[in-house]
Amino acid sequence: MKIPIEKPVLVTSALPYVNGECHIGHLRTYVPADIYVRMLRKMGYDVIFISGSDTHGTPIVLSAEAQGITPEEVVAKYHEHFKRIFQALNVNFDYYGWTDSESNHRRTEEIVKKLIENGYVYKKETKQAFCNTCGRFLPDRYVEGKCPYCGAIARGDECDQGCGKHLEPGEIIEPKCKICGNEADFKQQEHFFFNLSSFTDFLISYLDKLGGTRNARNYALEWTKKELRDWCITRAMEWGVKFPGRDDLVVYVWVDAPIGYISFTEELLNYTTDEKDWRKYWKGNKATIVHFIGTDIIYHHCIFWPAMLKGVGYSLPDAVVASGMVKINGGTFSKSRGNVVRVKEFLERFHPDTLRYYLVAQSSHTKELDFSWDSFSMRVNNELVAILGNLVHRVVSFAYKNFRVVPEGEIDEDVFAAIERTKEEETRVVDEYEFKKLVDSAMKLADFGNSFFQREEPWHLIKMGDAGRERCGEIVKNVLQIIKAVCIGLEAVMPEKMGEVWSQLGMESDVHSVKLEEMMVPIASGQELKKPKKLFELVEI
Ligand code: 2FM
Ligand code: ZN
Repeated sequence: MKIPIEKPVLVTSALPYVNGECHIGHLRTYVPADIYVRMLRKMGYDVIFISGSDTHGTPIVLSAEAQGITPEEVVAKYHEHFKRIFQALNVNFDYYGWTDSESNHRRTEEIVKKLIENGYVYKKETKQAFCNTCGRFLPDRYVEGKCPYCGAIARGDECDQGCGKHLEPGEIIEPKCKICGNEADFKQQEHFFFNLSSFTDFLISYLDKLGGTRNARNYALEWTKKELRDWCITRAMEWGVKFPGRDDLVVYVWVDAPIGYISFTEELLNYTTDEKDWRKYWKGNKATIVHFIGTDIIYHHCIFWPAMLKGVGYSLPDAVVASGMVKINGGTFSKSRGNVVRVKEFLERFHPDTLRYYLVAQSSHTKELDFSWDSFSMRVNNELVAILGNLVHRVVSFAYKNFRVVPEGEIDEDVFAAIERTKEEETRVVDEYEFKKLVDSAMKLADFGNSFFQREEPWHLIKMGDAGRERCGEIVKNVLQIIKAVCIGLEAVMPEKMGEVWSQLGMESDVHSVKLEEMMVPIASGQELKKPKKLFELVEI
């Protein structure tokens, strides 16, 4: 989707539950979102990029119980952990908040009260899973059982291993208590419901025009056209945002979590900029809102969330970009089976840019990504070392040894044409959320640089008197121009490594803020090159 350049853009990344360590599966949302934001800025857009920790819901409470600590302690611990990981990976949010903030409690209360006022919330007795052994109700992830739609093993609120459907309390078949493992029953309890079904017509026309990836729109449309059931928005729990007027109930985590997007916008604007009004982003459709999520939470972002926003008259998301899930060696994540790659441990061994590159180069954004150490080492060794690293090191070393500066000469027309094509392709694929094609396109240009250098054999010319040296200089300048263009296109993917290339080229500007147009600006002759250092190390697993 080509988004309008004249409007500010708000990009969000789904909020991770901070109930444990960050693993590779999490990154499929954050790294591409960061790449997207960096590319939009290079294309001239005015962007803010936000995310934060999802601090409520049963994932947090269960983790606290398992560790014998309080939910507050779990959240404080892993919130800092996630923040550090994002910093280490150069995922540069303008603001990273958490949903237990005072402003998110306030904004959630305001929105829920308005939904009540507008007649979209009603009270009903409903059956909830109850464990007789533990003597307690079992909301959401406290209960496991069979999905009533596809029969797969499911959690209380989601068929996470089967059809992906959201499950309402009381729907799961053969419920078992996650704490004691015993069979659970159902008991009646009073809850509040959001009248989601009354938004069916609105959602069908909204989803029809929704930007982002096709998987998000199509799944959501299919579910909406089949049937929407009203949505229980309260839980009998302590930990969470209190339902207005009820001390015994909190709102379902999927109410206050996406509202976090609004609260964090507000917090960012209050704390860090002169423009203090969050309404610029969330009222009157004055901005473009783009959500980056995983395919497992399409239902929440394309159905619940727009219906809630519509119900209170806030701006609606313009695009939802859903990445495929991550598998490890063909299997799903499982801590007990050792099928987990923790990001912290990964970063102790490898450069963060190699992981950023791998995550987008390995498969297209909406497809599943199957992580394996073999495929990681192949991407690094055959692409980053053999193509990109080789180009930069070979050419800059040769140029440094023979000229010390960027030599004189004109840029060939076919070199400019190849760069222009790459620039256009990079713009187009970013509009289409095809981040794999972004790296493919830049690497194709790097390949072209390698063949150009090889074909022209400047190492012979340099020995052929003044005329030879002059022509050699021209060839070198052309390949340095190609490297400069590759570097701009890949900065979004590998910001640190491209910073190193930029400085080897002797560029004085900041590679992180140059615009895409700069790819076509001739590199200045006479500019001093830096002594090159190898960019990437071979990975041996
Ligand atoms: O599925 C999850 O991990 C949720 N914590 C995502 C929340 S995204 C948003 F809506 F807040
Ligand atoms: Zn139990």
